[in-house]
Amino acid sequence: MRNPQLNRHGELTHLITTEGLPRDILTHILDTAQTFVPLADRDVKKVPLLRGKSVFNLFFENSTRTRTTFEIAAKRLSADVFNLNINVSSAAKGETLLDTIANLSAMQADLFVVRHEASGAPYLIAQHVAPHVHVVNAGDGRHAHPTQGLLDMYTIRHFKKDFANLTVAVVGDILHSRVARSNIHALTTLGVAEVRAVGPLTLLPSGLDQMGVRVFTDMKEGIKGADVIIMLRLQNERMGGALLPSSHEYFKHYGLTEEKLALAKSDCIVMHPGPMNRGVEIDSAVADGPHSVILNQVTFGIAVRMAVMSIVAGASA
Ligand code: CP
Repeated sequence: MRNPQLNRHGELTHLITTEGLPRDILTHILDTAQTFVPLADRDVKKVPLLRGKSVFNLFFENSTRTRTTFEIAAKRLSADVFNLNINVSSAAKGETLLDTIANLSAMQADLFVVRHEASGAPYLIAQHVAPHVHVVNAGDGRHAHPTQGLLDMYTIRHFKKDFANLTVAVVGDILHSRVARSNIHALTTLGVAEVRAVGPLTLLPSGLDQMGVRVFTDMKEGIKGADVIIMLRLQNERMGGALLPSSHEYFKHYGLTEEKLALAKSDCIVMHPGPMNRGVEIDSAVADGPHSVILNQVTFGIAVRMAVMSIVAGASA
């Protein structure tokens, strides 16, 4: 079956997930993002690639980083940007997602950026929009957060230059994490030598072995010799029942402290998609310390989102 994110010419027309995206498309997005990074140092931080296009940000879940950087990215591409306030929209009166999309499409929307609590919502929208309209997933349920995955890949490439020979440990609540899924698919496609998933058994999904991921329940073993550590937030809002004894106990075993970090390579970088639970999955001394590239991730997110929007918008209908 054809990848539903690609058009009949094999061009990226929607971005729904990093799963199944060919390596050359991932690399093209990272290379394109690299051309946008220097724009931040110019007086006029704009290029005309999306001039005349209308970008609609539809965030049905809260966001600080993703929503804001998508807006900055679209404005730097010279698009007209509309942020639908879901709480005061007619979605609150029961209007369906597809009716909302149909009505915004009638306002000549060209690109929808969608965050939704339901896994599959951006895919559903992509199936119903006109061929010239593009959909970018900004995080759907537990399923995927592809632009976070891509900005994480950009950050790793920036600091480590090459994906081969790296050991990357993804640590924490992998079960509920759309970021972890998007990262693991991208890391394996880009040829990272060793991808590790580290966490308590209750927060590790099945099937990681089949994805080529080494699984560790002992954090000290899991981060030993790592080049990159990606810490994940405990997603309490997605936990149906008690999966952990307490956050204090969790920090003791899976919180990243300077002591545990000393087991990784001396030039290891520490990443976190945010928002962080300080003192739960990461100690402030590490989050704010010399190995942390957490705020670099945020900055690179602008260029990566510019790349994604300009690439999908450039795909032929
Ligand atoms: N990383 C991330 O998705 O953060 P926000 O929820 O603030 O967008």
